[in-house]
Amino acid sequence: MIQVYAHRGASGNYPENSLSAITAALEVGVDGIELDVQSCLDDYAIIHDTWLDRTTNGRGKVNETTRAALSQLKLSNNEAVPTLQQVLDTIGQQTTINLELKHTFSLDKFVATIEDNVQRGIIARHQLLLSSFDHHQLLWLKQKLPWVRIGALTASIPLTFAQFAQQLHAESIHMDKNFINHEFVQDAKQRGLKVLAYTVDKAKDIELMLDYGVDGIFSNYPCYAKMVVQQQLN
Ligand code: G3P
Ligand code: MG
Repeated sequence: MIQVYAHRGASGNYPENSLSAITAALEVGVDGIELDVQSCLDDYAIIHDTWLDRTTNGRGKVNETTRAALSQLKLSNNEAVPTLQQVLDTIGQQTTINLELKHTFSLDKFVATIEDNVQRGIIARHQLLLSSFDHHQLLWLKQKLPWVRIGALTASIPLTFAQFAQQLHAESIHMDKNFINHEFVQDAKQRGLKVLAYTVDKAKDIELMLDYGVDGIFSNYPCYAKMVVQQQLN
């Protein structure tokens, strides 16, 4: 059965990376929730862009803004930008948490935060899936958290196909849907790697991904995606 991940939460119907998008995704019963994480000056914020202006009423860079200042900013529905801790508290042990680490990241503190949450039982180890386009960062994280599942992000077809993900000790490859083909999926499977496709919203694209044999999709509309997957399998 193909897995359905909510991309930035249920971001088609709620502001991306918001607590309401997360809550909606949990209500759908998704297999996981993908969220973008960045460092702000003194904490971790759940936000996609380097700059604040597209998704909030603020200006400037996320990594030059304090948590206190971020909490005053509004998303399009007046919610605040969530912190990493708020998100972990909200999801708890309910589903897989795929944290996509964007650039400008204080990794030591991030690792300590994750370990603290696991120790306190807020989240369980098996739930966590860390991904990034920065593969050096992933390798470093796997050394610090050997138990963590790694998702190797790519928006290209490397010359050696899925080999790069093996080098990263990844469990899965998270790939732009436009680059996925039969040859790549077959190569990944032979290496024991899963392929998850982003961002897959339209029925035709979901059908194509099923045909390629991917293991999962990231969708902004996880409720609809689950319905289409179910229909295709019946
Ligand atoms: O993690 C999958 C996908 O979210 C990667 O691209 O730009 O949507 O964060 P982006
Ligand atoms: Mg992302």
